[in-house]
Amino acid sequence: MERQIQDGLLRGLAGIFPGTELLRRFGDHIQTRVEDAERAAIGGDEEAYFAALLALESLLLCDVLSDQEAQELLDSDGMPAVAAVSQRLFATFESRLEDAFVADIGRTRSPARYLYDCDSVTRNYLARYRGLAAAEVALAGITGDDHVAFVGAGSLPITAFEYARTTGCRVDGIEILEQRAADALRIADCLGLGSQVSMLRADGQEIDFSKYSVILVGVLAEPKAGIFARIAGGADPKTRILCRTTSGLRQLIYRATAPASLLPYQAQAINRARGFQTLSTLHLGLVSLTPEGLG
Ligand SMILES: C[S@@+](CC[C@H](N)C(=O)[O-])C[C@H]1O[C@@H](n2cnc3c(N)ncnc32)[C@H](O)[C@@H]1O
Repeated sequence: MERQIQDGLLRGLAGIFPGTELLRRFGDHIQTRVEDAERAAIGGDEEAYFAALLALESLLLCDVLSDQEAQELLDSDGMPAVAAVSQRLFATFESRLEDAFVADIGRTRSPARYLYDCDSVTRNYLARYRGLAAAEVALAGITGDDHVAFVGAGSLPITAFEYARTTGCRVDGIEILEQRAADALRIADCLGLGSQVSMLRADGQEIDFSKYSVILVGVLAEPKAGIFARIAGGADPKTRILCRTTSGLRQLIYRATAPASLLPYQAQAINRARGFQTLSTLHLGLVSLTPEGLG
């Protein structure tokens, strides 16, 4: 139904504007929103910054363009520079939001209620990660017997909490920044998940991955090539490996993971973001060295 409405909208817009004109107008709108957000961020106007980013986000999540049109737009003149600014603004926004949640959780008497029962923007943000985590649990077939490594966990690893809470598995969050790792560990304890969720203050390029049955590499964990080289050098061949990425216009929110940075792995299945979801997840397997695999 959602797709039908979107297709209808696209046809309607395409009837008003020829294809190239539609894309140009879309691009102009995106560029204006990014400039608004950048101006507000530089001017220190937090409210205008958040408002501009939310307006931009709804444009990027509307799923009106086909993959080919979205790629054409992303490749058009000036758009790579706009994308770089947009990704930076969203990354800052996400960190601030997570820091604010962590501070709020530190003040509340019931962190579990704050995270699972609240009625605010927090709930919508967390619902997005809960949906993403549920789709990943299904994609990798995660069960209570699994031991998961989550590289790039951040200070509020909802994904780790959700994997542990919904399947009973153990999760080690790997976070390069000391304060974020400490915050995440404190919240896991407050939620009563301390026996299942641990945090390692470390670079994902230096982890011994041999004990994990599932590895998730977050969208902001970098450098991807170094992390995957380390995984390939140490992980059990049966370990299921997931990597987050973006597609279509969502690449203006987070940079997409380049296939070359996954080597020696390649995508074998994808759980693709739709609707209010921003992140897609790839299920990886080793690149086939048979002649067909090289074709
Ligand atoms: C803020 S979280 C956001 C997670 C995001 N929502 C996702 O789904 O991937 C990303 C975290 O990755 C951490 N990070 C980036 N590169 C890393 C690496 N090589 N090893 C460990 N942590 C890393 C950053 O410090 C940051 O806290």
